[in-house]
Amino acid sequence: MEFSDSSLERRSFLIQAGSLLGIGIVAAAAPGLITSCQKSESPVDSGIKKDVDLTQYSELQSDFGAVKVLFPGLNEDKPVIIIRKSSGNFLVLSSKCTHLGCEVNDPDKATKTISCPCHGSIYSEVDGSVIKGPAPQSLRTIASLYDSGTNILTITF
Ligand code: FES
Repeated sequence: MEFSDSSLERRSFLIQAGSLLGIGIVAAAAPGLITSCQKSESPVDSGIKKDVDLTQYSELQSDFGAVKVLFPGLNEDKPVIIIRKSSGNFLVLSSKCTHLGCEVNDPDKATKTISCPCHGSIYSEVDGSVIKGPAPQSLRTIASLYDSGTNILTITF
């Protein structure tokens, strides 16, 4: 089979263009791969434990009193909400709204609700469930264990 000069030039051009296109695809895909790796290293469910001395918080001396506490680098750098449901019974929720990720307000002890300032979602302070959208799901519950002997709440991220 014979190739003319113009046919060879065209073929050479197509091979080079294909190579460049392949490099472009790899370059475009690489940031996505890196992002995926970063997501898998999310602090969510990391197993890291933090102790909170509840004697430091006067808000937690009565039922449905609550405080927000930030643990830098954990819970996606959003505070957790520690809620006293009853004596010795605490609930820990993420303050990250499940709609678009805004930090929700402090709980309203009178109505036992938690509102989001961004688009008006309302959650129950009792269990973090959605009372009013657009939030699609409950605030994330974070595991915790209370020691009445020391008054320490251990939160597991
Ligand atoms: S981010 Fe909370 S309601 Fe939209």
